[in-house]
Order: sequence, then structure tokens, then C-alpha cells
Amino acid sequence: LPGMEPTRVAIIGSGLIGCSWAMVFAAGGFKVKLYDIAQQQLTTALESIRKQMKELEESGFLKGTLNAEKQLALISVCTDLKAAVEGATFIQECTPENLELKKKIFSQLDLIVDDNVILSSSTSCLLPSKLFTGLKHVKQCIVSHPVNPPYFVPLVEIVPHPETDPSVTERTYALMKKIGQSPVKLNREIEGFVLNRLQYAVISEAWRLVGEGVISPTDLDIVMSDGLGMRYAFIGPLETMHLNAEGISNYCERYREGMKLVLNTFGPVPEFSGEIEQKISQAMSEKIPAVPKHLGARREWRDDCLVGLAKLKKQMKSN
Ligand code: NAI
Repeated sequence: LPGMEPTRVAIIGSGLIGCSWAMVFAAGGFKVKLYDIAQQQLTTALESIRKQMKELEESGFLKGTLNAEKQLALISVCTDLKAAVEGATFIQECTPENLELKKKIFSQLDLIVDDNVILSSSTSCLLPSKLFTGLKHVKQCIVSHPVNPPYFVPLVEIVPHPETDPSVTERTYALMKKIGQSPVKLNREIEGFVLNRLQYAVISEAWRLVGEGVISPTDLDIVMSDGLGMRYAFIGPLETMHLNAEGISNYCERYREGMKLVLNTFGPVPEFSGEIEQKISQAMSEKIPAVPKHLGARREWRDDCLVGLAKLKKQMKSN
């Protein structure tokens, strides 16, 4: 509606993830206050956001209905925490992954926020019970864990503290949907949440297979990128089971014993060090030298792939 103030969000920490959240919220038409400790960091962040938005606009991948200029105008910066969160209905914390630092920030926020705002953390692995226990506003606290790069990979894991009010979980879920992300709810906290538990299960078996000399590091990656991964961009492991037989029950009937046989041959948790590390590091570095120039170029290529994939997923849905 004309003259209506857009809903306000505050982003605490303007690094990689903070900038991404700012862009996702601005694409959704939200007013964004970006907070950081140093003005220089905020200047750099705004420059980076402007550059990314312009590039996305030129390539036709800018999200949302507003143009880049209008989206940029929704984002402002601030080095005063109180002013940053003033009037915000949702606060997304994106500071470095350090428990003490995050606890300090949440206890500062705890003193200045009202009883309605949602206090949300981007943490990848700190549990809500570690982050939020003892806060006066613990009922309003939640983890909203994004995936890098959030602009192109929409998943957000929503993880409540045991004392989080269910309405906070619901509001966070609805907000994530509204800005075009793909939220999932965890019913309780667990180490690694869900994404990293699945990821680590894959990484550890990959590590063991290479370590035991079953397959080379580069071929191992191909098993995922040209095999399993092809379908996982569209359907999950459980639906895969459902489709690979006449439904889940039929799959279990057919493959239950076989799966257990294979799973019982899995080795222990790897050390992720020593000779195997050397071997994998060497193979990966031959393909992509581990220096900023090459890693950066490959990341750009990866993001281009993700953009293409996002486009394809959208097309496939509408058909
Ligand atoms: P980053 O290092 O790029 O950014 C952190 C920002 O926080 C910097 O701009 C820094 O100046 C600022 N900062 C430091 N102390 C502060 C304070 N006291 N108050 C306000 N701002 C402060 O880190 P990144 O990668 O953006 O990660 C942020 C959070 O997001 C972490 O918890 C991380 O685990 C999580 N995350 C990161 C992902 C990734 O792939 N990078 C993916 C998913 C979540």
C-alpha cells in the first residue's frame, strides 16, 4: 500500500552471511538495518552488496519485484546496536562462529529488545541451549541456519530452544517462506542440526573409501556430482527410496537386508588428518590449486551452476 512502512529487519554482522541475508530480505521488500562494529566493514559490505545486485540484475537473476536501485535503497547501515534494532520485528545475528561472542551479543540484545521481536542466529553448529539459555527473552530466540550461498541455496534450518515459544517458530517459518527461502523445522536441537549430519555422513564415508584405496578422490566426487547429486537436487533420499521401488514398504522389503549388510561394513569415524588428508589435498589441489585466485574462480563457477539449477528447479515446478 502506498505510504505503508515496509517491515523492518536488523542484521547483526555484515560479513559473507550478513550481506546475503540483507540481499534476501531486501529482495522480499523488507527494510534492512545492517549493523557491524566497524564503519569500514559496513562500507565494504554495502559496496559488495551493490556490486552483486547490479551483476544479478544484468544477468536477470535479481530476486524480487523491485529493481536493484530500489532494493539497495532499502538497506541502511549502522554502528549503534540500539539504533540498529529499533523498530525491527526480526533480528538475524551473523557474527563469527564463536560461542562467547554470540552469547555476549545476545545478552546485549536481551537488554534492549521488546517482547515481540524475534532474535534469530545464523549459527552453523552452536546449539540453541548453548546460545540462549538464561536470556530474559529466551522464548523469542531461535536458530535460522542458512546454507552458503543463501541467495541461491534457499534452505534454512529452523532450530528452536526448548523454551522457544511455538509461535516464534511459526512466525520465523512464515517469514522465511515469504522472502522465498525454503525453511524446515527441527522439533528439537541436535549436534550438527540435520544438514551437517547428512553432509558429515557422506564426507566420512567418502574419506574412508578413498583412505582404503577403493576409489580415487576425483572419482569419488564424480559419484556424487554425476550420480547421486543429480537426483538430490530434486528429490530427497526418502522419496528416492519411494520411487526406486513400488513405494517405501516395497523398497524396504527388497533392500532392507542388503542395506544393513553394507551399513555394517562402515568403518569408524575418520581422523581427517595424516596420509589420507595428504592424498585428498594433493588430488584436489591438482584440480584446483588451493590459492585465492583459483578457489575464487571455481566458487564463481559453482555459484553460476547454482543459479542455473535454481532456474531449472523453478521451471520444473511450474510445469
Ligand atoms: P564473516 O566473518 O564473513 O562475518 C562476520 C561479521 O561479523 C564481520 O563483518 C565482523 O566484522 C562482524 N562482527 C564481529 N564481531 C562483531 C560484533 N561484536 N558485533 C557485530 N558484528 C561483529 O562470517 P560469516 O561467514 O558471514 O558467518 C557468520 C555466521 O553465519 C557464523 O555463525 C557462521 O557459522 C554462520 N554461517 C556461515 C556460513 C558460511 O558458509 N560462511 C553458512 C551458514 C551459516
